[in-house]
Amino acid sequence: MSDLRERLARDLTTARDRTLRLTDHDEPELLRQHTPLLSPLVWDLAHIGQQEDLWLLRRGDARRPGLLPPDVEALYDAFTQPRAVRARLPLLPPVEARAFGREVRGRVLDRLERLGADDDGDPFDFAMVVSHEQQHDETMLQALNLRVGPPLLAAGTPLPPGRPGVAGTSVLVPGGPFVLGVDPADEPFSLDNERPAHPVDVPAFRIGRVPVTNAEYARFVADGGYADPRWWSARGWAQRCEAGLDRPQFWGVDGTRTRFGVVEPLPPDEPVQHVTSFEAEAYAAWAGGTGVVPPGARLPTEVEWEKAAVWDPAAGRRRRWPWGSAEPTPSLANLGGDALRPAPVGAYPASASACGAEQMVGDVWEWTSSPFRPWPGFVPMLYADYSAPFFGGDYRVLRGGSWAVDPAILRPSFRNWDHPYRRQIFSGFRLAWSVEPSADGG
Ligand SMILES: [Fe+2]
Repeated sequence: MSDLRERLARDLTTARDRTLRLTDHDEPELLRQHTPLLSPLVWDLAHIGQQEDLWLLRRGDARRPGLLPPDVEALYDAFTQPRAVRARLPLLPPVEARAFGREVRGRVLDRLERLGADDDGDPFDFAMVVSHEQQHDETMLQALNLRVGPPLLAAGTPLPPGRPGVAGTSVLVPGGPFVLGVDPADEPFSLDNERPAHPVDVPAFRIGRVPVTNAEYARFVADGGYADPRWWSARGWAQRCEAGLDRPQFWGVDGTRTRFGVVEPLPPDEPVQHVTSFEAEAYAAWAGGTGVVPPGARLPTEVEWEKAAVWDPAAGRRRRWPWGSAEPTPSLANLGGDALRPAPVGAYPASASACGAEQMVGDVWEWTSSPFRPWPGFVPMLYADYSAPFFGGDYRVLRGGSWAVDPAILRPSFRNWDHPYRRQIFSGFRLAWSVEPSADGG
């Protein structure tokens, strides 16, 4: 238990350090709302503390008084306060929001010290709170990416170089059963929607060795892909027309892109970012329909994605990470948020999964074709409204985590979801193909 307590204390501290770095700006900056899709940063700052107070100091019982007066606490309820209105609420000023967060955290660390002794709490609930804070840190990065003005953030250590010859190639994932999802015994910090582990049969398919790159996607744009309804689903075409989309978000018309306030030449070998799932599907239809890639290209399902990421057919079991059991390091995956960008494709040859797929973890969230549904046997966690209200809604699942995700909260079983028409998220995709069974049944 003391190892676990130490790990949780470290993860809580890492998350808070990151939150404070991302919100280390003057008050007008924190009060700005860059898009109705995202909160002003000062809302996230106090909401992180409010949720920690609710889940860890009141054990989820909202009837118990929290550290904030009820009328103030109500401002930070994500379900009753839509993002578009949050900038108009009488929010706590940054200095008060920080003090509140500090007060909650002090009490939480006191509780953590007693965990397993005179505190009968579930360590998972602390991990859940770490995950919540880190997920808000990623949405704060989305907001800062949309911000207009001189850059506020500087990138950390340089990423490894890519390697030629991997873009546009694919690998085979043999057909057969595989174990989808995880159990708490193996992944104690897995969230409710990743559970339980259960066998599923997945026919053979091919999947992109790496995500689709800017250079590949630019050919689709240059070929008039955005003007040709043949490549788009009916709904995707309607959304493209209504939103006036003609290239990925943040791309200029002159071969540049804007990233955290910096305008720079579009890096050809980086995975494309900031596309909707409709744009991803249209690219697949265009690439498969024009001979750029083999015919039948599509997005993978999330089940295919997870199998390609973790299934080791020779051993007949899952790997903890695509490459094996070692925890992610900077030489295996681009995670943690300091890079402010995805790494070029081919940058992590040692990250290959058993089938040979690379960069399954980190870089960009990868759109899948799957709606967000519970696995059979789903049981909600303490934060019962984390997943369940979204099952069956107008959402599609994204997998693998982006460069902005902290490794402490990620697993290959982690499921993210968003509306198919969103693209302020760090979203890209890789292609997949069904494989016809051969005549001998192999
Ligand atoms: Fe939240």
